Amino acid sequence: MKKLSLLVVALVSAAVIGSSAFAAGGHGAVVDQVHMNMSDKASLQNGAKIFVNYCLSCHSAQYSRYNRVAKDLDIPLWQLKENLMFTTEKEGDLMKTTMPAENAKAWFGVAPPDLSLVARVRSPDWIYTYLRAFYIDESSPSGWNNSLFENVAMPHAMYELQGVQKIVGKVDADSHGAIDAHASSDAVGDHKVVGDTIFELSHPGKLTPVEFDKSMTDLTTFLSYMAEPAQLQRKTIGVYTIAFLIILLILCILLKKEYWRDVH
Ligand code: HEC
Repeated sequence: MKKLSLLVVALVSAAVIGSSAFAAGGHGAVVDQVHMNMSDKASLQNGAKIFVNYCLSCHSAQYSRYNRVAKDLDIPLWQLKENLMFTTEKEGDLMKTTMPAENAKAWFGVAPPDLSLVARVRSPDWIYTYLRAFYIDESSPSGWNNSLFENVAMPHAMYELQGVQKIVGKVDADSHGAIDAHASSDAVGDHKVVGDTIFELSHPGKLTPVEFDKSMTDLTTFLSYMAEPAQLQRKTIGVYTIAFLIILLILCILLKKEYWRDVH
């Protein structure tokens, strides 16, 4: 018995150590945790709007159709047509980019990848950190760089919203948790920590840092929904299934009592 409990303790601690090592970013990258709420339709709708306005010009989401997204996210048809689609597109069309792949390759050196499954390939935390980690870098061809994805070919698509930030320094890995509190500061010139990097906002954008982080949470939530649209239904199905099993359990107990009444 003692041996067994020792084994259980060893297994649990191995699992905890293993998972915390993974949570730190998998490949050694420090990423911030995103707090997504898949049942928040307003958040998903805002994410979809940002995606269509700021990402679809370069990236496609070729496994998603406009009308499926509208249905899942409770977006009325008129709103879909007015805000999310170009006039030439039909409701049942796939969310394809208007940029031809060969032009994209020539302009950026790398064709922007399809984003349908990116939340599964990278992880929502990675995307949330990446989208907030662009900074000005005169030496890069696009004028931008990214502290999570060094020398990335993507320019900062949302600098209008975020403003322009520059690198101030790196966070000591051990003190990362302590400095995180600064991440929600509003004022220009204040420092903000994204992943393991400290930034300073040199030009403000249309949104405050807090609003921008919230928008990036919404966008990450939308990308994560796109990577697995069924997850919106899956959770409701889970609740129904558990409720059904509880009712079944009660019925079984009653039935057992009924059967055994005569025996006792
Ligand atoms: C001007 C074109 C352009 C726009 C607009 C753009 N991207 Fe990109 N994006 C790229 C290119 C090019 C790459 C490839 C970068 C590389 O591999 O160096 C990329 C890479 C990415 C990656 C990394 C994919 C991976 O796994 O390697 C993500 C995530 C991403 N983009 C998300 C977005 C989101 C979200 C938006 C909208 C806010 C957006 N992009 C807007 C051009 C663009």
